[in-house]
Amino acid sequence: MQTQARRMSSTAITFPSSSSIAAVGTPATRTRVGKYELGNTLGEGSFAKVKYATNLDSGESVAIKIIDRDRILRHKMVEGIKREISTMKLIKHPNVLRIFEVLASKTKIYIVLEYANGGELFDKIARHGRLKEDEARGYFQQLINAVDYCHSRGVYHRDLKPENLLLDSFGILKVSDFGLSALPKQVREDGLLHTACGTPNYVAPEVLADKGYNGTSADVWSCGVILFVLMAGYLPFDEPNLTVLYRRIQKASFAFPSWFSSSSKKLIKRILDPNPVTRITIPEILKNDWFKKGYKPPHFQPDEDVTLDDVDAVFNDSEIKLQGDQTGRKGRLSVATEVFEVAPSLHMVQLRKTGGDTLEFHKFYKNLNSGLKDIVWTTEQSNNEEPKVA
Ligand code: ADE
Repeated sequence: MQTQARRMSSTAITFPSSSSIAAVGTPATRTRVGKYELGNTLGEGSFAKVKYATNLDSGESVAIKIIDRDRILRHKMVEGIKREISTMKLIKHPNVLRIFEVLASKTKIYIVLEYANGGELFDKIARHGRLKEDEARGYFQQLINAVDYCHSRGVYHRDLKPENLLLDSFGILKVSDFGLSALPKQVREDGLLHTACGTPNYVAPEVLADKGYNGTSADVWSCGVILFVLMAGYLPFDEPNLTVLYRRIQKASFAFPSWFSSSSKKLIKRILDPNPVTRITIPEILKNDWFKKGYKPPHFQPDEDVTLDDVDAVFNDSEIKLQGDQTGRKGRLSVATEVFEVAPSLHMVQLRKTGGDTLEFHKFYKNLNSGLKDIVWTTEQSNNEEPKVA
């Protein structure tokens, strides 16, 4: 009987090494992470950094969030972070900043993000002042679209604020850091303006009360504060004294400026309801007349394949995977995988070393095999370099 094996997927897992390459004729060095060449720092905090980078294969601009690996491991949050990053990799919404891939070295995790070259939306307000109602509504509609879509996939932001609202070159809103809410706060805080304990101006009263909360209504509150700021040019809740600020947020004590239309005031009042149970929901916002004016539904790009192999490689607790880069005599270890469907419930996975040290590859293979011993059946190796797992 002849077996027709159908190729299901093929991917390459690369273990990136950061290397500095001296540029000819210039004293500066250029740092590389896998196929990315790092450039300027876009944002920096005490635990994480975002850098501009270029994909050397495609010439495309990206942003890379660099996180200290130990800090994540120390917080025992690997599973939660892995789950959210995996979900985010699968989310392709025009108003949500894409996560392209995740890489790791011995000490760092690199999250490769879409680069939004229009900068932060709030820089626009800082430079030119408050927005006209129609323009503010346009951004608010995009924000609600992004938030609604992520909520439908079980991802909550929990920390929506101006620094997370970026613009692309067409002026389209891109919400960043969705899915990173599982990260410890110190790790997430990466912008230049952020402090380890940033002011809670955008945070819902029930989150401040710390009594357990629903991610959906907490995000809706933050969207309401953002809408207010877009139209007013200042915050609804702003006090130098934190205790006074908390009290004002708990009571939703704020005043509207004279230029707000009555229909916008009605909507904002329903969003900034201190009681999360009676607060307006996203389906209700979508039906609101003020919200609906000039609404354009999001335009989705055609789907392309997304692999989660990189997220698995980074977050599965395998010593070899994360150490493979530095020790290899022939540079970083790189493994290509191909999955063939032999029969509906029988798949053959072929692993092939495409770069790096053979001994290191075998150590990696042995480690992988023992980790999977309960679910795989191992065949004889065809040769030194191409063990197969079936
Ligand atoms: N600053 C932080 N993240 C960014 C991104 N993805 N694009 C542009 N600037 C950023």
